[in-house]
Amino acid sequence: MDSSAGEYGMARLGLFLVLMGLWRFSDACPASCTCSISRIVCIDSVPGIEDFPVLTLDDMENITEIYIANQNRLFDINDNSLRHYINLRNLTVTKTRLTSISSDAFFNNTRLQYVNLRDNNLSTLSWRTFQNFNITFPLLLSGNPLDCVCENLWIKLRLQEESEGQELRCMDDRGETEAFVTLTPPDCVPPKVEVDPKIVTKMQGSNVKAVCRASGSPLPEILWNLDLLTTHHEIEPMETESSLTLSGLSPDDNGRVIICSAENMVGQTEATLQLNILFAPHHPAAAGARAEPSLVHPLQRDGEPQARAAVVPRECASPGAGLHPHHDPPVHRERGPWLPAAGQPHAHSQWCVQTGGKE
Ligand SMILES: *[C@@H]1O[C@H](CO)[C@@H](O)[C@H](O)[C@H]1NC(C)=O
Ligand SMILES: *[C@@H]1O[C@H](CO)[C@@H](O)[C@H](O)[C@H]1NC(C)=O
Ligand SMILES: *[C@@H]1O[C@H](CO)[C@@H](O)[C@H](O)[C@H]1NC(C)=O
Ligand SMILES: *[C@@H]1O[C@H](CO)[C@@H](O)[C@H](O)[C@H]1NC(C)=O
Ligand SMILES: *[C@@H]1O[C@H](CO)[C@@H](O)[C@H](O)[C@H]1NC(C)=O
Repeated sequence: MDSSAGEYGMARLGLFLVLMGLWRFSDACPASCTCSISRIVCIDSVPGIEDFPVLTLDDMENITEIYIANQNRLFDINDNSLRHYINLRNLTVTKTRLTSISSDAFFNNTRLQYVNLRDNNLSTLSWRTFQNFNITFPLLLSGNPLDCVCENLWIKLRLQEESEGQELRCMDDRGETEAFVTLTPPDCVPPKVEVDPKIVTKMQGSNVKAVCRASGSPLPEILWNLDLLTTHHEIEPMETESSLTLSGLSPDDNGRVIICSAENMVGQTEATLQLNILFAPHHPAAAGARAEPSLVHPLQRDGEPQARAAVVPRECASPGAGLHPHHDPPVHRERGPWLPAAGQPHAHSQWCVQTGGKE
């Protein structure tokens, strides 16, 4: 026993020296693994690994494939396990005791295109874990004691998209197995969401109320994404809807698309509200513009972004600009005058609106 251990040790040392000659060896590579510039392979069950290898940051960034098998002390993939493997494409974790994967486990692994989790101990898996990925990439899950529960329903919905169609089965609470394709847990419906109104066309300074209604089971959580919004806003959440009140519409929000999302354990979906904010041409120099059609766009002169070009009435008339003239109150007009007559302070009688959205 001793001598075979010794031989084994010598063999390992030999292998080590060979590998040293081939590439810059990182001593952070665990004993059960071999690490090359682009791949990490951990298949020795002794001594085994308890977590994913941690190499130097540079080394981890260059890894495109991780292959782990036969590890009986590996139980989870957590938020930190793979965060530095930002170029990871291919992940295999098989024949381990993997029981849980956190919902942000692959947050940083945006290049993943193949995930093989066969023959582990996963009983539930959240759609959130895979939410950033192309739905069409292979996700192999057979050989796990997956439960026939609502939380796993997304797997069925996903299998329907998958060409190879794994014959995946789940286990109900009586220990009987069932094909995923026939899984229909009670009270388990993916969310649907609707925003009313979908498009708002109103004048600067006015108020708007929109409602986001969601359905699904369990009742979805409703979230508005208001990160970039300048206009003052308030949200009033209720059980199946959430109302959004915007007070004093700011021209900065013209063209903005606000997203309302609804999610439950089955999935996530979104609807949008588009703001078209009508606002007065506010540049005094515009008064002289009729006689000088090539006047430099006042906003460009101010160094403000093109996206806000809608404030200049003359732009309203330019075909294909996505800008359409409105009168106050907003009524389409066939022709100008889009500019205040020379010498007149502009009369707040012309308004432009940008349609079609900019985001
Ligand atoms: C990572 O890959 C880049 C590009 O292939 C290479 O220049 C660099 O040397 C690699 N880094 C390491 C630590 O191997
Ligand atoms: C993603 O990777 C970058 C670079 O390694 C790191 O700074 C960042 O914290 C990671 N994000 C997460 C959520 O782990
Ligand atoms: C990922 O691994 C699978 C199975 O080993 C292999 O068929 C596939 O070519 C690999 N893909 C990449 C991008 O390395
Ligand atoms: C599998 O996970 C369950 C919990 O979900 C645990 O009770 C069980 O011991 C695990 N089995 C193995 C072989 O790790
Ligand atoms: C998803 O992957 C498929 C096949 O690889 C590809 O054709 C498609 O463009 C991808 N979609 C996105 C949004 O990346």
